[in-house]
Amino acid sequence: MPVLDTPRLTLRPLTLGDVGALRALLIDPDVRRWMCDGLVLPEATVRGMIQESLAGFRRCGAGLYALHRKEDGAFVGYAGLKPARIRGLELAAAVWPRYWRQGVAREAGEAVIRHAFDGLELPRVLACTDAPNFRSLGAIVRLGFRPLVNTPGAFGVIRWFVRDRPR
Ligand SMILES: CC(C)(COP(=O)(O)OP(=O)(O)OC[C@H]1O[C@@H](n2cnc3c(N)ncnc32)[C@H](O)[C@@H]1OP(=O)(O)O)[C@@H](O)C(=O)NCCC(=O)NCCS
Repeated sequence: MPVLDTPRLTLRPLTLGDVGALRALLIDPDVRRWMCDGLVLPEATVRGMIQESLAGFRRCGAGLYALHRKEDGAFVGYAGLKPARIRGLELAAAVWPRYWRQGVAREAGEAVIRHAFDGLELPRVLACTDAPNFRSLGAIVRLGFRPLVNTPGAFGVIRWFVRDRPR
């Protein structure tokens, strides 16, 4: 199981011990506004997400990480790769609102992408966001993704992006 390191964060694979903490994050009204179709996910769904992530780590080394701040060990969110509805793996992330706009998603996202290219040798990483999700859109663009395609979604349009492995 890979553990990734950034200047401020440690990224470690989510385990079944994280079901409660991850669900608390995902059902926060500000976090889920344009995520998970706005639904309050039941515990079984969150458990399924983590089981799928663990299977992904075993299958190809790609899954979801808990983000811990080095400073105090706080669980600040999650980030990682999951199978996309279109072909490929997509970057997924959510951060507790009290830590928003401090570069957490950018720092974690960059580490996940670097590992995808250098460690897993993926040719590209996808990202998507519901059209109204301006915070996510900003983070995706800031991470150097370019627009790919639009598909229908719960909030109108889902915007898909891609970042290719540098040659
Ligand atoms: C989207 C999200 C993960 C961003 O996390 P974050 O740690 O606050 O993001 P960062 O601080 O790393 O910001 C990265 C870039 O995103 C953009 N951004 C982030 N928040 C923004 C906001 N409120 N308004 C405009 N741009 C914003 C900026 O371009 C920013 O770079 P900059 O600060 O250098 O200008 C966070 O808002 C979140 O968890 N939202 C709810 C869950 C969600 O929607 N997840 C994505 C699902 S697709």
